[in-house]
Amino acid sequence: MLKHYFCTDFIIMEQNENSQSFMAKTFAGLEEILAEELKNIGAGNVRVINRGVSFTGDTELMYKANYLCHTALRILKPVAAFKADDDEQLYAEAMKIHWPDIFRIDQTFTVNGNVFHSKLTHSQYVALRTKDAIVDQFREVTGKRPWVGKTDADIYIDVHISHDMCTISLDSSGESLHKRGYRIAADKAPINEVLAAGMIKLTGWKGEKDFYDPMCGSGTIPMEAAMQVQHIPAGYYRKQFAFMNWADYDSELWEKVKNEADLAIEEADCSIFASDRSAKAIGIAKRNLRNAGLHKDIAVKVAYFDSLKPKDKKGILVFNPPYGKRMEERGEIVRLYKGIGDVLKNNFIGFEAWIITSNYEAAKFIGLRPSARIQLFNGPIETRFIKYEMYEGSKKGKYDDSPRKKTYGNRTGTGRDNFKNRRKNPERKFGKK
Ligand SMILES: C[S@@+](CC[C@H](N)C(=O)[O-])C[C@H]1O[C@@H](n2cnc3c(N)ncnc32)[C@H](O)[C@@H]1O
Repeated sequence: MLKHYFCTDFIIMEQNENSQSFMAKTFAGLEEILAEELKNIGAGNVRVINRGVSFTGDTELMYKANYLCHTALRILKPVAAFKADDDEQLYAEAMKIHWPDIFRIDQTFTVNGNVFHSKLTHSQYVALRTKDAIVDQFREVTGKRPWVGKTDADIYIDVHISHDMCTISLDSSGESLHKRGYRIAADKAPINEVLAAGMIKLTGWKGEKDFYDPMCGSGTIPMEAAMQVQHIPAGYYRKQFAFMNWADYDSELWEKVKNEADLAIEEADCSIFASDRSAKAIGIAKRNLRNAGLHKDIAVKVAYFDSLKPKDKKGILVFNPPYGKRMEERGEIVRLYKGIGDVLKNNFIGFEAWIITSNYEAAKFIGLRPSARIQLFNGPIETRFIKYEMYEGSKKGKYDDSPRKKTYGNRTGTGRDNFKNRRKNPERKFGKK
């Protein structure tokens, strides 16, 4: 029977080979979506906390979580949890972990610290003291010190302190999972890939109608849409995960996880359209698409939003217009958002549109009644992901500022059923040249 033996933000269960504790990190607002992704791959004891989801499973599940979860930023495997009121306690507890069992002297390591509501207040100092303990222990045991790598380390260690409870974890992902491996270039203000993936999941879209990003910049949102609808694993283009450097790395098990997941890739029968007024941004998007082998799956062009005319009578738009928070941009940004409302009302009747913005004042000028508003964070920036439905008569719609219940979009669509009849082509290789 599993038993909780520590109570921090992370719930650590008694560990055994078949059931270890893990923590998946994500952005605030995407926890429920990530919990669902984890349940779908067979995670046990799934529990949502602030900006994360704790769960249990075996090593195979940990590989799957890294490869398949579109809304996970990193997957942590806790190795110790204890109370840490000061740096001496932290150092002493970190020394109790037998580090040479975890990694070799010739491997580089890095420590990331996070501190919330605790007596220890500096994340960097917490990371430094943990590093000291690791280096000192290696010196005592082996007579040598391991190298601390700033980038591209072999071993990633995470120290999380909340309300004076500390959890030290091995980070199985290494570089954040938003680094999918498909991006070779970026324009101004690209949206984080994990946030884009979470936004698409929040809309409930599963390919049952055409998808548009009319302000696509370097193409992140349509690329994440194409990956989801074709069941391309989130880590498909990525070559490296930190667990590959662990002593217990099982390359056969990893290949099995990858091969099984890749077999589920299939073509979609909806269209994805990406456009932007900037020729430079579209040039960058095209390079990223080609690199990912998605250039045949997404139609890309240079176009102003007001010139777009949809092909079908229904569809979904998901985009992040410029936020333009500087005073001198106010007039231009109000015109832009007003224009967005006009185009939606005139050209996209029968569609739903989802817009992410941190400029709530400007959003009012869209002049349509939102049917959902979800708080999300674009890095440190607080935003709203706002849904508008353009039914016949929307032209008369007035902006309604009353608070609405948080919803997770229309999740009753029959998209999954639509996949049943799709042509399966396992021979097809995405981005593999
Ligand atoms: C915040 S960026 C989008 C970033 C994008 N999601 C990405 O991940 O790279 C906003 C984009 O809106 C585009 N834009 C602004 N006004 C536009 C308009 N009227 N029509 C089309 N694109 C527009 C800009 O050129 C810019 O690329």
